Amino acid sequence: MTKIICVCGARPNFMKIAPLVEAFGRTGGIETLLVHTGQHYDARMSKLFFEDLGIPEPDVNLEVGSGSHAVQTAEIMRRFEPVVMEYTPDWVVVVGDVNSTIACSLVASKLGVKVAHVEAGLRSFDRAMPEEINRLLTDAISDLLLVSDPSGLENLKREGVPDEKVHFVGNVMIDTLLKNRDRAEASEILESLDLNAEKYVVVTLHRPSNVDHVRTLSSILDAFEVICRDMPVIFPMHPRTRKNIATLGLGERVDSMAALRTPEPLGYLDFLKLMASSALVLTDSGGIQEETTILKVPCLTLRENTERPVTITEGTNRLVSPKTELILAAYREQLARPIDSGRTPKFWEGRAAERIAQIFAQQ
Ligand code: UD1
Repeated sequence: MTKIICVCGARPNFMKIAPLVEAFGRTGGIETLLVHTGQHYDARMSKLFFEDLGIPEPDVNLEVGSGSHAVQTAEIMRRFEPVVMEYTPDWVVVVGDVNSTIACSLVASKLGVKVAHVEAGLRSFDRAMPEEINRLLTDAISDLLLVSDPSGLENLKREGVPDEKVHFVGNVMIDTLLKNRDRAEASEILESLDLNAEKYVVVTLHRPSNVDHVRTLSSILDAFEVICRDMPVIFPMHPRTRKNIATLGLGERVDSMAALRTPEPLGYLDFLKLMASSALVLTDSGGIQEETTILKVPCLTLRENTERPVTITEGTNRLVSPKTELILAAYREQLARPIDSGRTPKFWEGRAAERIAQIFAQQ
């Protein structure tokens, strides 16, 4: 019996861990323990996703909550270590690039437990992003590197990772999207927000580079003000962004734009439906760049770089610097001349978790 601890902690982890837990459950000879670090804890950032995706209740919740990077990472490590010592797994499986990913990898590695990283090899080459540090360090100590984007293969080769540790398996987040697409179709989110299909823009922003500084955030809001004259802008707000808007004194500005709507964060199915039916998505999320590629919805990513280049070369994604005029130019260009709806990147077809389970079955 191969014993595996599956780790999740923050919102983008849940749709990645869901198909893995399911595939491991279907594969003979694998026993799993699901550990939630509690990095995200609000019902709308966590519980709602477990319900929407039918993920079993975590076996262990470390309930770490928020903190500075050092505090949060250290607290996850302190609480995860005894769990690993007691369960004595053969593997710890981590996904993505959040603080929970590096914290749990480090604990496992120091205890001599093998680490598998799902979504290995992605690089933005921007070390100002906390996620880039998490990606580099997690990959450096992983024993199995499971790659979703072909660029990951090149990056890991360049960093000297031996080929036998690396497997190109595809994208587990897309497994979840394809599995739930029909269920999401039934969501009534358009009716409840009083929206017409393809007649609104969806926004998500939460990265420090976009929402921590008043100048950048104001210049993004200036662009929204213009877009709002054409159609509603739906901006389900991450708690971090909502807090920053208040602290930076931008609350009144946001409230003054009648067509800018800022509901609480949505569940998986409602948000999938909202994206799939929109005219355009503006985001700084990693996962949404991938999801819009499969949904064939144009995506403007308000960042200088992306660790997911296949969404640009084969998908519907385009990078736009977060400056008012550049955002508006890209938006207008997009409306006037819809971009090529793109191709489907290799292995983004719904079977990535199955491939990963097979790899473990053969270990
Ligand atoms: C984290 C990830 C980021 C990912 C994002 C998705 C890291 C370094 N960052 O960023 O890569 O894209 O999740 O959402 O791991 N908060 C709440 N309720 C919650 C969770 C957070 O109110 O349930 C607030 C707290 O004020 C907290 C802040 O959001 O301090 C930031 O949370 P944190 O988990 O540290 O990082 P995110 O910005 O969510």
